[in-house]
Amino acid sequence: MEELQNASLQRLDQWLARSWSTVPVDYQWLLLQTLATTASRRAWIMSWPETTGGTILDWGSGPGIISQEIALLKNCLVVGSDVDPNVLELAQAVAHLFNMEGHVRFKKADILNDTVAEPADGIVSRFVTQYLPEAQRFFQQARDHLKPGGFLALEDIDDGYLIEHPAPPDTWQNAVRAFQQSQAGPGGDRFIGRKLAQIGVESGLELADMTVNPSVFAGEMNAQDLSVQFDIDRINRALPTMIRQGLMTESEWYRAQQDYRASFPKFTFVSSASIRLLFRRP
Ligand SMILES: C[S@@+](CC[C@H](N)C(=O)[O-])C[C@H]1O[C@@H](n2cnc3c(N)ncnc32)[C@H](O)[C@@H]1O
Repeated sequence: MEELQNASLQRLDQWLARSWSTVPVDYQWLLLQTLATTASRRAWIMSWPETTGGTILDWGSGPGIISQEIALLKNCLVVGSDVDPNVLELAQAVAHLFNMEGHVRFKKADILNDTVAEPADGIVSRFVTQYLPEAQRFFQQARDHLKPGGFLALEDIDDGYLIEHPAPPDTWQNAVRAFQQSQAGPGGDRFIGRKLAQIGVESGLELADMTVNPSVFAGEMNAQDLSVQFDIDRINRALPTMIRQGLMTESEWYRAQQDYRASFPKFTFVSSASIRLLFRRP
């Protein structure tokens, strides 16, 4: 059984290594991050309460790689949901490829409005709460969708852990601050990591465990590197909103990108961290 499980996880890793660059650009960085953090995430999943034969909901499941991983490691059914129909198609195709259709299912749903079919043994949501306009509503929904004793496992970012040395040009730092401001409020929160424990406890859940998981890079960085492209690309996509919100002008953005690209190549230290939390429903 364990051998079968390991072989399936290995196939998933091989697929990730081969295919991350072929998925829609919105998800490429996520798949690379997924591949790079495999060992610590799998140890975390294994530490969750026993769910053999039960059901875990994967809220904001995206490409569904984590859904498959959880189904394999926890011997349970995983039901993933997402608002993006295109990414659900990808999730279904990958599940089909690995013959996992009996173990993972996907449906289109907004987790903030979805109604309870049957309470689950566990809920997982990874890198999703940062996008939500109402984190409180998310936790109420989680409470309503869990059996008594069920668990909620969350992983998300907090930009407070982001350190870059040498510091990027001022024009670039201004653009990043404008981006963070733009996402704050109705569009989510890039500092959500530090807030999740309190919101969860105030929603009536018990905090069982919490860890900070650092990820560090030090070395020569080039303007063509994927992490640099990704940082530019994500602000680029938010630009129309940022301009509408009066947070940035097109020429400021042009200058910021130009200065940022021109600051490479250089030896760069980058450190970031995600926060992982485990709650129990009393
Ligand atoms: C960064 S991706 C994370 C995907 C996945 N959890 C993982 O770790 O690989 C965030 C996902 O959340 C989804 N999402 C955002 N808001 C949502 C909502 N209100 N209901 C359902 N899905 C949502 C997005 O469509 C996207 O696929």
